[in-house]
Amino acid sequence: MADKVRIVYLNPCGKLGGAETSLRELLASLRAAEPTWELCLVLAEDGPLAEIAREMGVTVIMKPFPPALGRLGDAGGLSNIWSLAKAAAATFRYARQLAQLLGELQPDLIHTNGFKMHLLGAWTRPRGVPLIWHIHDYVSARRSMSRLLRAFQKACSAAIANSKSVAADLRELLPDLNVVPIYNAIDLDRFSPRGSKLDLDTIAGLPAAGAGTARVGLVATFARWKGHGVFLQALAQLPEEPVRGYIIGGPIYQTDKSQCSLEELKKEAARLGLGDRVGFTGFIPDPAEAMRSLDVVVHASTAPEPFGMVIIEAMACERAVIASQAGGAAELFTDGENALGHLPGDAAGLARQIQRLVVDPELRLRLGRAARQTSQQYQKARLAQELTAVYRAVSRIPTAPSTGAPEETFAGAASNQ
Ligand code: GLC
Repeated sequence: MADKVRIVYLNPCGKLGGAETSLRELLASLRAAEPTWELCLVLAEDGPLAEIAREMGVTVIMKPFPPALGRLGDAGGLSNIWSLAKAAAATFRYARQLAQLLGELQPDLIHTNGFKMHLLGAWTRPRGVPLIWHIHDYVSARRSMSRLLRAFQKACSAAIANSKSVAADLRELLPDLNVVPIYNAIDLDRFSPRGSKLDLDTIAGLPAAGAGTARVGLVATFARWKGHGVFLQALAQLPEEPVRGYIIGGPIYQTDKSQCSLEELKKEAARLGLGDRVGFTGFIPDPAEAMRSLDVVVHASTAPEPFGMVIIEAMACERAVIASQAGGAAELFTDGENALGHLPGDAAGLARQIQRLVVDPELRLRLGRAARQTSQQYQKARLAQELTAVYRAVSRIPTAPSTGAPEETFAGAASNQ
């Protein structure tokens, strides 16, 4: 092993979706906790993550996927097998190049983020180099991916799951794999109640909303299961209170079938007769600014959310949050205490919770304050501590000379499997 510890991260996407936001904070946590380690990020797509990582002092290596591999979805089914066949040649070429790169880098450990990289990492890692899969989604829901991960699991030393719920799903599928749940971290200075706000009306091209209007926004990528339709239906069911809805975000991934389009959502809003009661802002680079500009942040995923970065980010901004209460997301809040819950896909239930908050600013305040308090559990120091414990357990990375205990520990994660 070289003097310097070197960890290589493999990530398919350069844009900032949930898994990339998670990786960003993970790199920042590690940078602070282990300043002498060399962190190296191999990205298969250019995007904002590259620059963000470079600014942290992470070495970024661009290794773009060939288009056929980039577009390849993992939703299962015959068409997927066909796409797989078509992409096979490109995948083989890519794997050869990646194997060569990893051979040159000689990492102490490889940490993969995203399904394609889990497989490619298992396939191409140099002999003896431990591999960690960081699993951000329910694997059992994806048939082809389940089979592939099962086939490659022997190459993986341990898997990190972003919630207990995702860990349970993975353990059921791969009982022999060592699975450790570790919650994500967020930047509690950036996601804070203090800071700049935005004029969401102008951004959405709407006339200014009247004084006293409650602003309620869904902050999400345009993946279909994020529940934009449910949110629009809920808005349409609200009585004529002074409330305006905002859809904040846009489509970001290379695989396109699983996303809705802006046109489609605007059409649905028009069909529901929402008019000026909803605005579409498009992608906003700093989600904290967008969240601070809202009175209520809605999370409306129609399927169990594996974790839900947006939920803790909005809680850290001291917002009143309404979240889909299922999966890992349900581990993040207590209904009525620090957020409100609703059942995934239940537009009427969501409308009722929005209405409660629209008419009760006191309740919004109380939930927001409790939420900010809860968000303190997602400190970066806690993540670094849990992560390095896993790294050290599976590799020959030496234990660092004691630099004092991290500021915060978190009872809910690795130590509590
Ligand atoms: C994935 C999950 C999401 C989670 C994120 C970070 O995007 O779908 O629930 O917040 O990863 O772990």
